[in-house]
Amino acid sequence: MSVISSLTYSRITGTGSYLPPKRVSNAEFAAELAQQGIETSDQWIVERTGIRARHFAAPEVGSSDLAVEAARHALEAAGVAAAQLDLIIVATSTPDMVFPSTACLVQQKLGVHGCAAFDVQAVCSGFVYGLTVADSMIRSGAARKALVIGAEVFSRILDFKDRTTCVLFGDGAGAVVLEASDTPGVLATELHADGRHVDILCTPGTVAGGSVLGDPLLKMDGQAVFKLAVGVLEDVARSVLAKAGRSEADIDWLIPHQANIRIMQMTARKLKLDMDKVVVTVDQHGNTSAASIPLALDHAVRSGRLQRGDTVMLEGVGGGFTWGAVLLDF
Ligand code: UT7
Repeated sequence: MSVISSLTYSRITGTGSYLPPKRVSNAEFAAELAQQGIETSDQWIVERTGIRARHFAAPEVGSSDLAVEAARHALEAAGVAAAQLDLIIVATSTPDMVFPSTACLVQQKLGVHGCAAFDVQAVCSGFVYGLTVADSMIRSGAARKALVIGAEVFSRILDFKDRTTCVLFGDGAGAVVLEASDTPGVLATELHADGRHVDILCTPGTVAGGSVLGDPLLKMDGQAVFKLAVGVLEDVARSVLAKAGRSEADIDWLIPHQANIRIMQMTARKLKLDMDKVVVTVDQHGNTSAASIPLALDHAVRSGRLQRGDTVMLEGVGGGFTWGAVLLDF
């Protein structure tokens, strides 16, 4: 018997996040890098990016460990037991292993089995990709209770000799429980990719014959990424608003990928939104790639700023080149 209902929507019923305890301020990081002969400063990092601190996981901690902590908080907030889940999606570019997926490791650590579990690899757009897939599966009747997580240990792939990238990223995880609902919920979604730009943001190494082949550290042409990001974030936001029959004025909260405060300011300006409608956590978290949006979402919820019924625009952009947006009523 089909469980597909034309009235099935998906709705976020709980959020959670987790940051590894080691917090490194710009000043501390600059002092550490200076010992290796790498010159940077709190002033440069704040002026160019808005970042003031980031968290780094201990060497023995993997993405699945951060993910499971965030997941537990989200499940608790939703009042859902892990055994009730029928779908787990983890967005990550820093999986614990080549395989199995981090989602399967999370399932194991939650002490459950049987439900579908897989990873999504869309770098900093990963959470928006994962949420869109989960929304589609719920609306089609393929799932009713999904856990969608963004989790990263980007510190593992940073080149600490490259000041143009190592000061930008951090580790962390964020999660949501998405459930079938007869009211939306998710209003509209849209995903894009343009593989012509694979080279501007990549970690090109791989594993072959028992060793690492190629360069396993992150490379970025920051200015190229910046320019593309500003354009696509405006376009995709307008597109999902049009799909949902809403306008910029309906947005209560914009939660963009947290990479650079200047990108967020430009996006807000283009969408005619005041910065006090933009959730900003890049100052405290740095760029946590797929984790940045659910981390920011959870912080906005737990601080009491984002309320039930608010209209929220989530926007991801990153390596691939990938981008996308989800408009939802919280
Ligand atoms: O997560 C995926 C999405 N990623 C992004 O959205 C990142 C997008 N890009 C950016 O956020 C910015 O392009 C960066 C923050 C990466 C760089 O900012 P920028 O304003 O584009 O700086 P720049 O690359 O033009 O560099 C300006 C100067 C250079 O020196 P010269 O050539 O002018 O003498 C750099 O060498 O700043 C220098 N510089 C630094 N100085 C101190 C670069 N990194 C540093 C540093 N400390 N950490």
